[in-house]
Formats: sequence, structure tokens, C-alpha cells
Amino acid sequence: MSAVRRIGVLTGGGDAPGLNAVIRAVVRSCKVAHGVSVTGILDGFIGLVEMKVRELSLADVSGLLVRGGTVLGTSNRGNPFRYAFRRPDGVEELVDASATAKKNFDKLGLDGLIVIGGDGSLSIAERFWRELGIPVVGVPKTIDNDLFGTEYTFGFATALDSASWALDRLHSTAESHHRVMLLEVMGREAGWIALHAGLAGGGDVVLIPEIPFRFEALMAKFRARERSGRPFSVVVVAEGAAPEGGTQVFAGEDAVTGWKRLGGISTQIAREIESRGGYEVRATVLGHIQRGGTPVPTDRILATRFGVEAARLAVTGQFGNMVALRSDEIVAVPIEDTIGRLKRVDPNCQLVRMARSLGIVFGDEDLEAVDRSEG
Ligand code: F6P
Repeated sequence: MSAVRRIGVLTGGGDAPGLNAVIRAVVRSCKVAHGVSVTGILDGFIGLVEMKVRELSLADVSGLLVRGGTVLGTSNRGNPFRYAFRRPDGVEELVDASATAKKNFDKLGLDGLIVIGGDGSLSIAERFWRELGIPVVGVPKTIDNDLFGTEYTFGFATALDSASWALDRLHSTAESHHRVMLLEVMGREAGWIALHAGLAGGGDVVLIPEIPFRFEALMAKFRARERSGRPFSVVVVAEGAAPEGGTQVFAGEDAVTGWKRLGGISTQIAREIESRGGYEVRATVLGHIQRGGTPVPTDRILATRFGVEAARLAVTGQFGNMVALRSDEIVAVPIEDTIGRLKRVDPNCQLVRMARSLGIVFGDEDLEAVDRSEG
């Protein structure tokens, strides 16, 4: 029997389809395989500072496999090292509440903490481990699929499913009206969703943060399609994409934490295309539809595999590690080796080269190449 008797689990940062499947796998394997109890920490790290917790039984996680979101709640404002404390006058100020988090961790009698989160949450987890001695195991999460150290994160396949679904619908209306239709998908620093959706949904142009684009190339693509008898085009834009020499477009900023929310690039592109003349353009922002809903089976399975392995690492005392998918095996990698680094789309990778060979334009091509892209 292991010395570990009770494990805490929390979900941090933006939600992703499959979070509940991880929670379920952690609870089920802790109880069934290891005889270990599980405490759910609510609303991310905030729950540890404010002592918002609940016991998780097998009955509590029943039916979670198919549920979107996270039953534990989450927050991307919950960094205990920069905790947004609300003063009696209602003003929020950032304070270091990490000592409170540690005190509460001990008070709860936890022997380990499983942190399911993206780069921000895993960076906090790593500081917990290194600076406070809180034993942590990380589970990587993001629909953007840009976390370093793992080939895939759960949530990505579901987001891709939603993006492809949207593209299929935009296609028929683009064709009917002879329009240029833009679909803005998520992807702050990496264009994985846009690239995969463009391939799955037959996009004509794919714009990603890794490849700055030129409007001349886009216009040339639309003209080439018109010449070949298809006077409509579908453009997939990652929210973090930007034109050559331009900057990313933000929709807002959190007044306290300074967190900047991307959004609006597709509207700007639509205006610019229309101002250049010849095309009627519409932009659709898919937004948080990509983050919600029931996870597709691929995500349920990956989330389950991550959860089972995270529980095993915690129960066997292998702290400071994150579970990761490599060559279809779930492995443990030190959290410190993965944080602060991104897995971005290599503009010369096989997938991009294949997309280009199909005629998909990324906006950095010379105009002759674009002209040839429709045969
Ligand atoms: O990092 C995941 C992500 O979905 C990004 O693609 C997006 O920019 C961000 O979260 C949106 O977060 P919020 O929930 O704050 O709107």
C-alpha cells in the first residue's frame, strides 16, 4: 500500500473538452487501483487560497466522461503568487497568497496535487513544487495544442471538430453568394486548429501566427479561383495571425491581471479585402464554441489515459512531472522542461508543405506561386 493517502486535483486556465474525463479517470483510478482518496479543489488555484474544496467519490464522477467543461470550475485569474484580492471598497489588488495556499494544502492533509492546466497553470505548479515544496503532477491541457513536450493535448480534436463543422457550413453559403468567407478560430501563438481545420474543411487560405501574410497573396488567390470558375473562397484565420509588419489584434484586457484577450483579426482582414475591391466578404468568429460541448472520443481516450497516469505518478511519489503523449505512449516529463516553451507550427513542416501542394495559400507565397495554386 502506498504512503500516499489523499490527492488533490484542480483544473486551471481556460476550459477544454475532456477536463471532466481527466477528473473522472483520476478519481476512478485513485480509488479502484490505489485505494487513495481524492479532494477536488474548486475554481483552479483560487480554491486552494480560499479553501473551496469538495470530496470526490466514485458517484461524483459518474457520467463525467461525456460532459464538457469542468465540474471543479476553473479560472485564468487564479495565480496564488499574483492573487486578485478584493478589498472591502471593491477594488482588486494583486497580492502574493502562495503561503496561504501552502497552509491550506497541509490543512487538507493532501499528499500530492494533480494540476490539470495549460502553460500558465503548469508554471504555477512548477513554482509550487520548487519554491513551496508542494508535491505536484501536471496534466497538459489546451485546445490550441501548443504545449511543449506532448504531441497532443485533449480538447484539440473536439475544437477541430467544431471548426471543421463551421467550415462545412460556411462553404455552401460562400459558394451560393460568390463571397469570401472568413472563419476565425482560436490559436494564440500557434495555428494548429486553423491548419488542421483548413485541411479537414477544404480551406483555400489558412492564416496562422507562425506565417505572417500579405494581402496581395490573398487577393491573388481569390482572383485565381475566380479565373478557374470558382468565384468564392473560404479563409481560416487563427486569432493570433498577423500581416507582415503588423501586430496581433486584441479584443480586451483584464484590468487587474493584464491578461490580453485576442479577437477581431478576421473583421480587420474582411475590411481590408473589401477596401481593395471586387469581393463581398463576411467574417465569422467561432470563439468559445470551440471550447465547449462534449469531447469527441479521441479526446475522451487521451484525457482518460492522462488521468490514469497522473494518478499513478502521484500515488507512487513521482512528483514534479507532467504526463505527455509521445509516440502513442503516455510518459512522464519534468514540468520544468516544458513550461515557458511553445510547440508551434514549423512553416516548413510536412503538413504545411502538403497543404501548399494542394493549393492552400498561407499568404507568404510569391504571386506566381499563388497564380499556379488553382492549376
Ligand atoms: O489558450 C486557450 C484559449 O482558448 C486561446 O486560444 C484563447 O485565446 C484563450 O484561451 C481565450 O481565453 P478566455 O477564456 O480568457 O476568453
